[in-house]
Formats: sequence, structure tokens, C-alpha cells
Amino acid sequence: MTQTTYADLADRVVVITGGASGIGAAFVRAFAAQGSHVAFLDLDTQAGEALAQEVAKTSGTAPLFVPCDLMDIDALRAALSKVHASLGNAAVLVNNAANDQRQVLSDVTPGEFDWMIGVNFKHVFFAAQAVVPQMQARGSGSIINMSSIAWMRGAPGLPVYAGAKAAIVGFTNSLGRKFGPDRIRVNAIAPGMVITERQRRLWYPDEQVITEMRTRQAIPDAVTPEDIASMAVYLASDASQRITCQCFRVDGGLA
Ligand SMILES: NC(=O)c1ccc[n+]([C@@H]2O[C@H](COP(=O)([O-])OP(=O)(O)OC[C@H]3O[C@@H](n4cnc5c(N)ncnc54)[C@H](O)[C@@H]3O)[C@@H](O)[C@H]2O)c1
Repeated sequence: MTQTTYADLADRVVVITGGASGIGAAFVRAFAAQGSHVAFLDLDTQAGEALAQEVAKTSGTAPLFVPCDLMDIDALRAALSKVHASLGNAAVLVNNAANDQRQVLSDVTPGEFDWMIGVNFKHVFFAAQAVVPQMQARGSGSIINMSSIAWMRGAPGLPVYAGAKAAIVGFTNSLGRKFGPDRIRVNAIAPGMVITERQRRLWYPDEQVITEMRTRQAIPDAVTPEDIASMAVYLASDASQRITCQCFRVDGGLA
């Protein structure tokens, strides 16, 4: 796939949560290829360090990897302060980290509920809270929140995850309306079925199930992390300067 180059993204500070693997790693690679100053946060230190090394070789500039458990809001704030001190004001925030742990309604304890909201929504809120003043200081910004088609389609095994991913769209619209006058744009991306290494290992070990799901797409080809990254890069750049408060499905037209 050809990647469009957006000249305005060169040298911009781009912060990505959960960037060490899966779709987040595609974001790190795509923004680094744009010449952006990329920082990414993740609890997977091994994968994060390996990706930083790989991207340093391919793009010539090492992204800043900050190990961080986003469940700990103080740690998130400290990590974002470190990024700010190292790279300056963030122009772009991609709120990507999540966990789509399957659950059965009757079995979910209050503790598990809080954990799912913590890993899928709470850090999204507090990361945005931390970077909005930086974007105001530089006069514009783009926040991209990762939602999911799971809440639109009514995924039965994901009651809390689906709720959190719907909440992210409500939050996106609230933030976009509040900070539009500051030229801070806030959009969401709702991917369809993207078979990352983790998705295949945990939820889709059976190729037959993947094939069946793809027959429900209007375009029957695999939706890749790079397809999602293309949308993120577009939403980050000035090419989308009048687009805010939107949620974009990137799902091949899944019915
Ligand atoms: N893959 C899909 O089919 C799909 C579909 C719809 C939506 N999405 C959304 O796209 C985004 C990326 O999905 P993915 O499939 O690449 O996910 P993934 O599970 O493969 O990767 C998530 C990343 O977040 C990190 N992470 C998780 N918990 C963390 C924590 N507490 N602190 C720090 N880092 C943490 C993980 O280490 C990992 O690197 C998520 O928001 C997900 O909900 C994915």
C-alpha cells in the first residue's frame, strides 16, 4: 500500500499510547515515516524497545519509548511529562491502548468492571486532559481516539469493552465541541476485524472463522494495521483540518 506523505506532519510531536505492538506499532511506524517526532507509551517493555530500535534503523530517527502502565494515572501523567520535557508540545495524541478481554455478563465482578473501564477508557480521558494545554499553547492539535465496531454491532462477549468503546465516541464529541475554537480536532476510528498477532493467538486461531467474517465485508480483503494507520495519519494532518467530532469505521464495509 502506498503511504501518502503529509509535509505538515514532519517534526510534529506525536504521542501514541499502546504503541509497542498491534495497530499501535503500525501507528509508530507510519508517523515515523512522516518524519514526526514520535513518542509511545506501553507496558510491554521488550516489544517497545525492539520497535524503537527497528524504527530507528528504518526512519533514521529513534522514537521515544516510555514504559508505562496506563492503569496508573500518576504514571501516565509522569510519562507524558517526560515526553513533553524531551520533545515539546504534543501536536497529535493517538489514544490507542486497550484490552478486548472477553467477558460473560453474569460473571463480571465490580473489580473486573473497573479494570475494563480503566484499561479501555480512563487513560483515554486523562491522556487527553494532559495534552490539551500543550495543543492550546501551540495553537492547534489533533486527538485520535480508538473506538471499535464492537459497540455498533452489539458484540455479545464484550459487554464492558463495547460500553467503553461507545463512551470513547461520546468523549470524542464532547472534547471536539469544547476545544474546536482552539483548533483542536478530536476524532475516533472504529476498526473492523484487524488480525494482529494477539487477535490471532487469543480470539481467532481458526482461519475458517476469519474467512467467514470477511464474507460479511463489502470489500472481502483483510483490513490491516496499515489501513488503520492511513486513517490516523490523515486525521493527524492538516489535510483534515475541518474534520472533527467524527467516528470513522475502517472495516471494509462490515455488515
Ligand atoms: N484488532 C482489532 O480487530 C480491533 C478492532 C476494533 C478496535 N480495535 C482497537 O484498536 C486499538 C488497537 O488494537 P490492537 O488489536 O492493536 O490491540 P493489541 O492488544 O494488539 O495492542 C494493544 C497495545 O496496548 C498495550 N497495552 C494494553 N494495556 C496496557 C496498559 N495497561 N498500559 C500500557 N499499555 C497497554 C499492549 O501492550 C499493546 O501493545 C485498540 O484500541 C482496540 O480496541 C482493534
